[in-house]
Amino acid sequence: MTTPLPSPASTLPLLFLLLLLLLHPFPAIANLHNLRTKSLKLPPTHSTKPTEFFEVTKPISLPNTIPCIHHIFTHDFASTFVKPPFLTNYTPPSHCPSSHGFSKIVLEWNATCKGRQFDRIFGLWLGGVELLRSCTAEPRPNGILWTVRKDVTKYSSSLLSKRRQDLAVFLGNIVDGTYTGIYHVNVSIYFYPASGENSGGGGNSKAADLILPISRNVENLNDGLWFQIENSSTRIESSEFTIPSNAYRAVLEVYVSPHQDDEFWYTNYPNDYIVANNLTSTPGNGPFREVVVSLDGVITVGAVWPFTVIYTGGINPLLWRPISGIGSFDLPTYDIELTPVLGNLLDGKAHSLGFSVTNGLSVWFVDANLHLWVDREGEKTTEGKLVAHGSELGLTSDANFTGLNGKFETGASRWVSTEGWVKSSNGNITTRFDQRFSYSNSMEMGKGGDSQRVKQRCNVSDKVSFSGGGPSLRSTNRFSVELYTDSKAGRNNTVLLETRLALGLGNRRFRGGKEVSRLGNLQRARGEMVVQGDLVSGGFGATKQWYNYGGEEEEEEEDGSEKCYFRDVSSKNYTIVHDRQGIKCHK
Ligand SMILES: *[C@@H]1O[C@H](CO)[C@@H](O)[C@H](O)[C@H]1NC(C)=O
Ligand SMILES: *[C@@H]1O[C@H](CO)[C@@H](O)[C@H](O)[C@H]1NC(C)=O
Ligand SMILES: *[C@@H]1O[C@H](CO)[C@@H](O)[C@H](O)[C@H]1NC(C)=O
Ligand SMILES: *[C@@H]1O[C@H](CO)[C@@H](O)[C@H](O)[C@H]1NC(C)=O
Ligand SMILES: *[C@@H]1O[C@H](CO)[C@@H](O)[C@H](O)[C@H]1NC(C)=O
Ligand SMILES: *[C@@H]1O[C@H](CO)[C@@H](O)[C@H](O)[C@H]1NC(C)=O
Ligand SMILES: *[C@@H]1O[C@H](CO)[C@@H](O)[C@H](O)[C@H]1NC(C)=O
Ligand SMILES: *[C@@H]1O[C@H](CO)[C@@H](O)[C@H](O)[C@H]1NC(C)=O
Ligand SMILES: *[C@@H]1O[C@H](CO)[C@@H](O)[C@H](O)[C@H]1NC(C)=O
Repeated sequence: MTTPLPSPASTLPLLFLLLLLLLHPFPAIANLHNLRTKSLKLPPTHSTKPTEFFEVTKPISLPNTIPCIHHIFTHDFASTFVKPPFLTNYTPPSHCPSSHGFSKIVLEWNATCKGRQFDRIFGLWLGGVELLRSCTAEPRPNGILWTVRKDVTKYSSSLLSKRRQDLAVFLGNIVDGTYTGIYHVNVSIYFYPASGENSGGGGNSKAADLILPISRNVENLNDGLWFQIENSSTRIESSEFTIPSNAYRAVLEVYVSPHQDDEFWYTNYPNDYIVANNLTSTPGNGPFREVVVSLDGVITVGAVWPFTVIYTGGINPLLWRPISGIGSFDLPTYDIELTPVLGNLLDGKAHSLGFSVTNGLSVWFVDANLHLWVDREGEKTTEGKLVAHGSELGLTSDANFTGLNGKFETGASRWVSTEGWVKSSNGNITTRFDQRFSYSNSMEMGKGGDSQRVKQRCNVSDKVSFSGGGPSLRSTNRFSVELYTDSKAGRNNTVLLETRLALGLGNRRFRGGKEVSRLGNLQRARGEMVVQGDLVSGGFGATKQWYNYGGEEEEEEEDGSEKCYFRDVSSKNYTIVHDRQGIKCHK
């Protein structure tokens, strides 16, 4: 059983926890939550209009057809912590002309909130398939609102299934005398019919034919459907599943979000340092984490080296108003190609997938969707065989410290490779999946542990090649985070925390060796905050963001034109001070 601690998305940086612990020796765990989370206690401003929060992303490119709007639910999330998820019946819209199928499906989440509240993690599942993992925005006394739009076309088979399904939303919130914010939410799904001209039989031909949930069953659950991974020795095995015998391709889409002791895993202290300085209630295990996925407990099929998403209350909540952190409103998911191991799944027997977090501390919320493509030609049974697989992690660390001051270097690399063939009516195709990871983290503690500087870099590349099949698919990702925090004891039992942050995400995708898209996304932020107990009572935050996307449109649009989007935007406190965006391509 898990300790029934509320799970706000965000908790305090460790340095700050340490400082508080030094200032006031709190009695360990029971107060950890209160200590390590924060929300704002700022006075109302003159403005009476609610502030609109947003995450910078490119607009979803939409077909030139009129969408059917399917309203899914309106619900208030008040005291929802340790309660069953909110459930509603879902059936596909009956009023949509769908003779040509739908070429785009977009989920829209609108929410308002007023008062004071933590950032809360939430998930939305349809028949156990997760459609969205996100974090709420923290309200202010005058109120806030925000919208998350997500292209959910890849979940078409679930969204269009005629079978009766539960749509579940878990957003664990607590409302009391201090934390007054209730999240009021509307969700609609927009179905854009394919125009008919360019649809060679159902616009969404690229989406999977079937998606199996790899998550917890909603029955008797007072939580999200995610699995909870609390330490490095736990491997969670999914419940067993059976796949159709005519499946010819499989991709596992993994959702992950770290919380509590591991929310800022990239800043976690090495254990030597903790032991030497007797910081036993401070989360440790160093700054390296990965999620490892295995099949039937024996074959490592892939790994996830996650991007460092910072939730809206993270580090300094004033940095994320109104521009939210990269990935915070729509957490990134990670694809693992399972086609090479299909041979092991096609035996008609039940199988399971396992998840573990290397060096993990409590708690990681992990689940997945298994996307399957089936052979429609004559329902022929597919056969296959896993030919080769291998995986290896290398981890190095180096420490040099005296007392609370010191320097720490951590390096890591991993490769995972699987290869196997599948014979279906498409022929006998050998698929090879390769993942390459490299990582470095340098951490420096100064001023007797009051300041911490972290610089982390992570490169992730994936390649799927098909011999006797289509063009290879490759993606390269570069994740970076640089964080400097400095805390001082202020007057009247307050703490002053200064922060400088750079958060970067670069992604390039290639098809058959040709680059098809490129994204550069960078946030630089600096701020100061005055903290009293678990409340931020003053300070400032300033954030700049550069977003630059260039790419060919997804195939279903089929006009082959290049679509680009850029946005340069900056904010100070709650105000946007600069905003420029456009669709010009920079060659
Ligand atoms: C939700 O929809 C209702 C009815 O259209 C509207 O009154 C309310 O303001 C909406 N709330 C949000 C958060 O969008
Ligand atoms: C969400 O808000 C947008 C912008 O205010 C509005 O256009 C849209 O209709 C709203 N959708 C829902 C589902 O309430
Ligand atoms: C790890 O977590 C599991 C529950 O997920 C628990 O049963 C086990 O005792 C924990 N192990 C350690 C070493 O803390
Ligand atoms: C370490 O901290 C614990 C709890 O604060 C305290 O009881 C213990 O005496 C300390 N040990 C040393 C060696 O300082
Ligand atoms: C450790 O750090 C100290 C102080 O910065 C430095 O003098 C010393 O050379 C370092 N030792 C190593 C092995 O790097
Ligand atoms: C499919 O191709 C692989 C690799 O060429 C081969 O080893 C295997 O025997 C073939 N399977 C069938 C059923 O033809
Ligand atoms: C990531 O890749 C870049 C470019 O190849 C390289 O300069 C950098 O050292 C790599 N970083 C890590 C941590 O491997
Ligand atoms: C110190 O804090 C207390 C309690 O929050 C408050 O009543 C008092 O006015 C504060 N004093 C100063 C000088 O800020
Ligand atoms: C942000 O607001 C605080 C008051 O909440 C103010 O002291 C500070 O000067 C403001 N900072 C900026 C950059 O406007």
